[in-house]
Amino acid sequence: MKVYKTWAKDRDFTLYEGDCKKLIARLPDESVDLVLTSPPYCIGKKYEDKTEADDFEKDHQLILPEIVRVTKPGGSICWQVGYHIKNGVIKPLDFIIYQILSQYKDIHLRNRIIWTFGHGLHGVDRFSGRHETLLWFTKGATKNFNLDDIRTAQKYPGKKHYKGDKKGEFSGNPLGKNPSDVWEIPNVKANHVEKTEHPCQFPVALAERVIKAFTNPGDLVLDPYVGSGSTAAAAALNKRKFVGSELDSKYYSIAKKRVLAALDGILTYRKDDKPIYQPPANTPLTTVPSKWRNHPSYEKQIPVHSS
Ligand SMILES: C[S@@+](CC[C@H](N)C(=O)[O-])C[C@H]1O[C@@H](n2cnc3c(N)ncnc32)[C@H](O)[C@@H]1O
Repeated sequence: MKVYKTWAKDRDFTLYEGDCKKLIARLPDESVDLVLTSPPYCIGKKYEDKTEADDFEKDHQLILPEIVRVTKPGGSICWQVGYHIKNGVIKPLDFIIYQILSQYKDIHLRNRIIWTFGHGLHGVDRFSGRHETLLWFTKGATKNFNLDDIRTAQKYPGKKHYKGDKKGEFSGNPLGKNPSDVWEIPNVKANHVEKTEHPCQFPVALAERVIKAFTNPGDLVLDPYVGSGSTAAAAALNKRKFVGSELDSKYYSIAKKRVLAALDGILTYRKDDKPIYQPPANTPLTTVPSKWRNHPSYEKQIPVHSS
């Protein structure tokens, strides 16, 4: 599949280097099956010149009406955001997205998904942040929800019905369980196989789960804020069409490289069904240092798996 730089109706894969407003203005009404993105949070990241939550709101007042316009009836809009943080005060950015989108009579919130992960900054004056959110909206009543394509491993696969007609039979779905609205997927930090120079990637596994659930092969996915290309790569891996934009030329090149690797089947990424790493017990890394023995909270530090 060819990756084009400019969008045209007959082009299956477009990575536009430039402002998303320009790209989206060219897209026809009701042409996109799924919008999946993570916008700039306006918290002073390398690629951000705006730093206020008001800036985030103003930008979204402009972009979201366009997103609604290009989404097909029955299509999905998924906005992945965290918190605006300034001087120790936090503001949940999904509230802003919800406020704007809930003004549309035909836009309905279907799930507020908590994406939780194990690594991040250690808080000193509040609890360490270990989640962000993903809002899933649909346009209109129809929704594509391919649950069987995104089921995850059962917690108790050997569980059986204990009463009724099916007593003694296995009670779980052999295809796996509904992943629920709390998703534990490792975030892309230093040692993650997907880490690029981009400071805020979301994992391909998160994008794949969304794409598989809400679209079918051949459907069109839009990501206005491509970044390192995680949504685009997931679209390529799953035979979806794609259109997206990235303003920064360095991130654009990274995204293009990852998309081409995905199309060639050689992208390095962490698959969704890979279990979360559990450090083995009784290794130097998981053993409480003996010099902490006299510390009052020593007992609390002993990992559960080592007992
Ligand atoms: C939070 S990051 C997206 C990260 C992406 N989900 C990933 O996994 O790599 C937001 C990206 O939007 C880009 N950006 C900011 N304003 C933009 C605009 N007006 N049009 C297109 N891209 C923009 C930034 O350069 C940044 O790479």
